[in-house]
Amino acid sequence: MSYTKQNKNGIELNRLYEEDFPVHEWYRFVLSYPPHLVRNYLVDFGMNQTHTVLDPFCGTGTTIVECKKSGIKSIGIEANQIAHLASKVKTNWSINEDRLLDLSRTVAEEAERTIQNYNSEYKTLTESQEKLIISNSISQIPLHKTLILLEIILRYKDKELTDHLLISLAKQIVFSYSNLKFGPEVGVSRIKKTDADVVGLWFEQIETMVRDIKQFKELSAIKSEVILGDARNINALIPKESVDAIITSPPYPNEKDYTRTTRLESVILGFIKEKSDLRRNKERLLRSNTRNVYVSDNDEIWVENNELVKNVSQMIEDKRIELGKTSGFEKYYHRVVELYFGGIAKHLESMKTILRPGARLAYVVGDQASYFRVLIKTGEIIADIANSLGYQVDRIDLFRTRLSTVTKEQLREEVVVLTWKG
Ligand SMILES: C[S@@+](CC[C@H](N)C(=O)[O-])C[C@H]1O[C@@H](n2cnc3c(N)ncnc32)[C@H](O)[C@@H]1O
Repeated sequence: MSYTKQNKNGIELNRLYEEDFPVHEWYRFVLSYPPHLVRNYLVDFGMNQTHTVLDPFCGTGTTIVECKKSGIKSIGIEANQIAHLASKVKTNWSINEDRLLDLSRTVAEEAERTIQNYNSEYKTLTESQEKLIISNSISQIPLHKTLILLEIILRYKDKELTDHLLISLAKQIVFSYSNLKFGPEVGVSRIKKTDADVVGLWFEQIETMVRDIKQFKELSAIKSEVILGDARNINALIPKESVDAIITSPPYPNEKDYTRTTRLESVILGFIKEKSDLRRNKERLLRSNTRNVYVSDNDEIWVENNELVKNVSQMIEDKRIELGKTSGFEKYYHRVVELYFGGIAKHLESMKTILRPGARLAYVVGDQASYFRVLIKTGEIIADIANSLGYQVDRIDLFRTRLSTVTKEQLREEVVVLTWKG
């Protein structure tokens, strides 16, 4: 692999992909919603350059990228540090891309030299880091090379550019160096990648970034902001009556531990060093699985009078007793559901001050059957909660159906469309 200067004329500047906006691919969750869904609701809600759109569960940034691309100001809130960084980087097109390429070339060359001349034991994660990742997530040699590259990226720390270098690395760790595979859950592939062209692939990703940034330069001034925070306390993060629309996809109530999906890159990049960091990270999240429920949690108070939540929680608990299931996890299932919807209610309540009267909201959520096959009609329940908090429920759109791995039935993914009248 050569890192010599590329002919600038070789870089294509002219094409803006309508359907497949490349920036999405810099780093994304496997299951994030498609860009066209965001575009449809931007049009439906009549958003234009005078408006501000918020995604309170912004993940890897599909909403805010689409807003920026359409010339609309946007804000994202995200509780997971790596996803927060990804969204920030994916909406920052005002960096000097030639400097990015130059710096990356220097880093790549030094990393290749270091790897070639390295003659002691392979670099490894610390014992506590090792305990945090899924075993065999990454093989010894790709990990060794990744740690060398990371060290050199951090040695050349640059206020403007380092985040871009790190997100390129995060993306390649997951999709090119690791043994991870993604189904409904993240797992480890049977066939292991024993080696990888770590530096070469990272540099290729940087080249892609540079190409994309050049393409979208004229949009770089459109304001976008990404805040690391908890969407249940949004009124503390965003000015009063400053938001015109919400387009978002919160977690769903299922047994999925969302922090596992991003664990490997979070640990390697140093966002999670100890169990306590992981816990702090999880505590900021909406409770959606038994692995992020804590004794002191009390979000259920926000839905204590909601009949739909009470009923579904009771059905889950009755089913557990009927099936004679007694494990700690299983005893928690009904509580997760109450905490989940309670968290959604708390979030909707905390948004009332920041929304402009007339603001439109779109929540993309999926029905679930993970807890003893009891059907949780997530969209319907969220609409009911929103209604009880003073939001107008306009409609529930069907987005798509998904085959349940538990019941083998088609589950609905819906968009709950609301208006805040003020
Ligand atoms: C379904 S994903 C969103 C995916 C997103 N649409 C995208 O394009 O990548 C839900 C996100 O909500 C985040 N999240 C969960 N609880 C949160 C909270 N209380 N505050 C802010 N973000 C939260 C999770 O970390 C996750 O990134």
